Amino acid sequence: MAVKEYEDWGASMPHGVGAHFYPELDSTNAFAQALTCQGERGPIWIAAGQQVAGKARQGRNWVSKPGNLYCSLLFAPQIAPADIAPLPFIVSLAVRDTFIALGVNPDVAQCKWPNDVLLHEKKASGILIESSASGNSIDYLIVGIGMNLAHYPDDAIFKATSFTEVASKQVDVRVALAILAEKLKGRLDAWRLGDFEPIRAEWLSCAWGFGNKRLIRTATETFTGTLVDLNSQGAVNVILDDGTEKTIYVADIFPSCA
Ligand code: BTN
Repeated sequence: MAVKEYEDWGASMPHGVGAHFYPELDSTNAFAQALTCQGERGPIWIAAGQQVAGKARQGRNWVSKPGNLYCSLLFAPQIAPADIAPLPFIVSLAVRDTFIALGVNPDVAQCKWPNDVLLHEKKASGILIESSASGNSIDYLIVGIGMNLAHYPDDAIFKATSFTEVASKQVDVRVALAILAEKLKGRLDAWRLGDFEPIRAEWLSCAWGFGNKRLIRTATETFTGTLVDLNSQGAVNVILDDGTEKTIYVADIFPSCA
């Protein structure tokens, strides 16, 4: 891997956590993954001023022009693959905490399954978690987070917004990353393995779309149904219009009139 110039942002991070800021990367997730080939296991944040090949869920592209936060936390917790189901919910809550700490009214900041954060019911952040495991242990985790601080795409599949649009003020990318790093560390430190319930309950208390009819799009079908609960694996229980129950593991969810 070619050596790239970076700014060391470690001074803004919680104790023991590194941070490198690169003006431009293909993808902070991909760069963090490349670092693992050199033995890096963090904890370290990789942030970029812009990404030219930003990755989103389900193989989509994350448009990554300058002004927003693009970052990935690389770390190697001592856990088994079966333990990571709560992680997307922990990360979403930490992103929501960050928007609130920056001045967003908590009432308008919601988590959307599986791991987006909405402001005023529009997407303001997306999360892409990638992992590598060998046998029954996690080798490393990469938690990639995009936060729309200054701008948002106007052609996204789910309507988007930005922090600036909602809060009518601007925020420095480094300041936002410092808050996010602190919020996520606090939540990861408090995470008790095997105890999803408090995380699940908190996430549901600020979740978008539960109790309402929604349009659900999986890789193979599109249907409407009411989101009723989050199960212990982090999947969503849905009641379909004909009254039958279904559990969804991978899908995009939209307002039912989308
Ligand atoms: C999604 O909503 O589908 C997830 C989007 C995740 C985007 C972030 S930006 C920083 C990190 N690097 C990437 O290439 N993707 C994630």
